[in-house]
Amino acid sequence: MLIKQKKSWEISENEVTDYAVWANRREFLKSMGILGGAVSAGIAGTSLSSLGAAFAAPITGFPAPRNEAYQLDRPITLEDEATTYTNFYEFGSSKNIWRAAQRLETDPWMVTIDGMVDTEMRLDAAELVAKMGGQEERLYRHRCVEAWAMAVPWTGIQMSKLVELAQPTSGAKYIRMETFHDPDIALGQRQSWYPWPYVEGVSIEEAMNELAFIGTGLYGKGLEKQNGAPLRCVLPWKYGFKGIKSIVKFTFTDERPVSFWEQLNPKEYGFWANVNPEIDHPRWSQATERMLGSNDRVPTLLYNGYEEQVSYLYKDMGDLKDRLFR
Ligand code: MTE
Repeated sequence: MLIKQKKSWEISENEVTDYAVWANRREFLKSMGILGGAVSAGIAGTSLSSLGAAFAAPITGFPAPRNEAYQLDRPITLEDEATTYTNFYEFGSSKNIWRAAQRLETDPWMVTIDGMVDTEMRLDAAELVAKMGGQEERLYRHRCVEAWAMAVPWTGIQMSKLVELAQPTSGAKYIRMETFHDPDIALGQRQSWYPWPYVEGVSIEEAMNELAFIGTGLYGKGLEKQNGAPLRCVLPWKYGFKGIKSIVKFTFTDERPVSFWEQLNPKEYGFWANVNPEIDHPRWSQATERMLGSNDRVPTLLYNGYEEQVSYLYKDMGDLKDRLFR
């Protein structure tokens, strides 16, 4: 995914906020009642709505019942592989960022639903999950545009439930999703040549597809921070970069969102980004993929093997076919 490297990613030790300083700042906020613990609504200058988060609890309900309709054609990837080899550029461009991601505070976690909807909402992640309905587990393939792949048990909720909850107005066509922005915590966000925050989008028809999923867990537990806790998007027929992590905002809009990677390099990372072994990335082949934990390559499948479920979404796009996969 590297576009260009103005300097090597590795932030030197002295640029890293000392953990103790950060922890002390949190202690201070806690003593003011702004984080967790006892909260008084009377704190000067702090609105009740921003304090609401402090009453929240983490997302629960793990492990959730497995929906057997979603089967794999390959073994489940080892948990260790899927949780230690991750892409989360907010914490660095290497795959080995899982330790750095522990700095992210995911409880409480406020999510905004806004734009072309009947009623805008701002609510805690756990409350959002509760409002969307019960969680389930699904086994899905995952294919990164970099040509590595995995097969994992996600926990989450069908994305159509979010659309039903949000009640978009008739003109809304897309959902724009946004990740948190906090360069004090996520040191990658100090790299100013990236267009932070990370943004992704789907059409509302795509969001209504049965496969589109809001992930809350992996391997029967709540999501690890490095995998996008507490809420992320899971779109198994698209390249993995569409699966935006640690979402703070869903905006319903009539304008097609320009995603993070598309802003950086539209010739390499397009909006639709459907998996297609026949359309190579400009710098490498997409014909095969390496399963995490192995050096063997296996053939990549059209729509990552989900053609039957999703091809109707794109059938009228005619000669846009090539662009559909970029
Ligand atoms: N979301 C955010 N916010 N930041 C990222 O860097 N990387 C994407 C996607 N979501 C990314 C992100 C990419 S390139 C991939 S392949 C998947 O997350 C990887 O998900 P995983 O690390 O849980 O396997």
